[in-house]
Amino acid sequence: MSPEVLVIGGRGRVGREVLRALQLTPAKVRALVRTPGTLPHSVAGDLGDPASLRAAMDGVERVFFVTPHDPAEQQLGKNVIEAAHDAGVKRLVFASAYHADVTSRLGLSLFVGLMSLLTHYGPKLSVERHVRLAKAMSPVVLMPSNFYQNDELFLGEIRAGVYPQPLGTKGVNRVDCRDIGDAAARALTDGSVDAGGYPLVGPEPALTGPACAAVWAKVLGREVVYDGDLERWYALMADRMHAREREDFRKTYKIFRRMRVAAKPAEIEKCATLLRRPPHSYEAYVETVAKA
Ligand SMILES: NC(=O)c1ccc[n+]([C@@H]2O[C@H](COP(=O)([O-])OP(=O)(O)OC[C@H]3O[C@@H](n4cnc5c(N)ncnc54)[C@H](OP(=O)(O)O)[C@@H]3O)[C@@H](O)[C@H]2O)c1
Repeated sequence: MSPEVLVIGGRGRVGREVLRALQLTPAKVRALVRTPGTLPHSVAGDLGDPASLRAAMDGVERVFFVTPHDPAEQQLGKNVIEAAHDAGVKRLVFASAYHADVTSRLGLSLFVGLMSLLTHYGPKLSVERHVRLAKAMSPVVLMPSNFYQNDELFLGEIRAGVYPQPLGTKGVNRVDCRDIGDAAARALTDGSVDAGGYPLVGPEPALTGPACAAVWAKVLGREVVYDGDLERWYALMADRMHAREREDFRKTYKIFRRMRVAAKPAEIEKCATLLRRPPHSYEAYVETVAKA
């Protein structure tokens, strides 16, 4: 019998791609939503309500989840892990964020401690650590880099000739959310996928802000200049992002502007192995959006 899969966060950039990719498999899928009826085959629930998570996981063998930019992110993630444990879930898949894959228990604890001191990624990495330690659920952690789809927050500005995302000039790896969805669907439905961490990265090791602008210029056939002003971007996003998410993004961009965050060839290869094809290039993504 097909496994029953629960997807949490299915209305978001990543979750909607996981649902799309699962539709191509025989899996029976259920989506947990905060607002009843907003997705097909959905159940109402909230990460902050453990009873709703337990009810949503009744009969479920596999669970995919993301955690939101929320002051209680760590607790919200732990609620999922506990509910999944109680429900006897056999595979737990968590989409975290891109970083070096640290596998030993001690290394992981040290890494999470250090990252919590130096960055705002502490809560997410703490959830990731708990997922990885939940060995009975054959856990898979996807570690995606900066989403190509972030560009869809400011398509109007791009079409008007300005690329506003302040990625800086050092270079950062970027990935297509469709690849994250395909990778998650495989991890959820293919028992041959080993537990562990998987970098979800694009094929170009690193893209700079000006390089992204140049790709848009090429595809649109018009001038697109890189703005790069962090505070101008922050003001632009005032009514396009939740306050906490906008704040976290600003902190992330400050890191990108100081240091290069490039994917290593072995990480790109590991991602391609999980996808069973190369990850989509940034230019291919931009072409798809431009055509749409
Ligand atoms: N953007 C990037 O470049 C990037 C890169 C690496 C990692 N990430 C991480 O990837 C993860 C997913 O990002 P995303 O862009 O897909 O997020 P998103 O578009 O904001 O979607 C978040 C989803 O979580 C749901 N949600 C939020 N709070 C909830 C709660 N209390 N109970 C139940 N559901 C809740 C939302 O439901 P509603 O539809 O009801 O709001 C939405 O479906 C995040 O943890 C993010 O930090 C992002």
